[in-house]
Amino acid sequence: MKLKDQLQEFTSLKRGLLATNFYNLETLHGVLQAASDQNEPIILQLTQSSIDYMGLKTAVNLGRSGLEQFGVEGWIHLDHGGSVELAQRCLDAGFDSVMIDGSELSFEENIKITSEVVKRAKNYGAHVEAELGFVAKLGQSHGQQGFTQPEEAREFVEATGVDALAVAIGTAHGFYKEEPKLDINLLSKIAENTPATLVLHGSSGVPHEQVQNAISNGICKINLATEIKNIFMKTLKSQLSNNEEIDLRKVFPVATSAITGLVKEKLRMVRND
Ligand code: 13P
Ligand code: ZN
Ligand code: NA
Repeated sequence: MKLKDQLQEFTSLKRGLLATNFYNLETLHGVLQAASDQNEPIILQLTQSSIDYMGLKTAVNLGRSGLEQFGVEGWIHLDHGGSVELAQRCLDAGFDSVMIDGSELSFEENIKITSEVVKRAKNYGAHVEAELGFVAKLGQSHGQQGFTQPEEAREFVEATGVDALAVAIGTAHGFYKEEPKLDINLLSKIAENTPATLVLHGSSGVPHEQVQNAISNGICKINLATEIKNIFMKTLKSQLSNNEEIDLRKVFPVATSAITGLVKEKLRMVRND
């Protein structure tokens, strides 16, 4: 199925589609095992730094062949693309979807860069996500001032023709010092104002009931990254602390399974039933 069709179907069912970042073979397989066990579709996301780490071709091939190996329906997506050039490289490499993140640009510049990526993606039949408003990046402070405005969202989607829109409604990337409070009222207004698929970034650390409330009120794509890295590294550390094993193929699977457990819970969460 095309990603756009899957997102539209899930939006109308008021259920979410999980989008998980992967960093290497182990994190990828952890996620795919969960999707396979639950028989759920999934979006596999790569950031620029993961692409730099693995190499573009290796990363996309790894994702694609993993989906086939585990018998999972899924799509490869560029997460937080910072330039038209990177989006173009990913389109050429066969990504199903690209995000162009102009959230730190002016409204006009964000429209301009997003429109350019939408135009290029059309030639590939690829899906495009943009961000309007500002979801704090790792280590940045976050406040109410960056929240997405419904009227701007309408204007932005009309002007760009973008398929999906990441909205700022109270989440931030990484863990939280205090429990976040999502502005569901604002989200409903945004959803009323635009036909674009709405995306929740920063879902790590958000209580599951709040994510589900957001899904019930218009969010469809749910991005998850930090909790995946965290559980992998925590499990690996405890594995290694009292263990002389040097065969990494015996050490990594425990951490990979921990990801599978986590992602299974998140898949139950986004099903929202
Ligand atoms: P978290 O790291 O908070 O899960 O956010 C992930 C994300 O938004 C990826 O784009
Ligand atoms: Zn994000
Ligand atoms: Na988060």
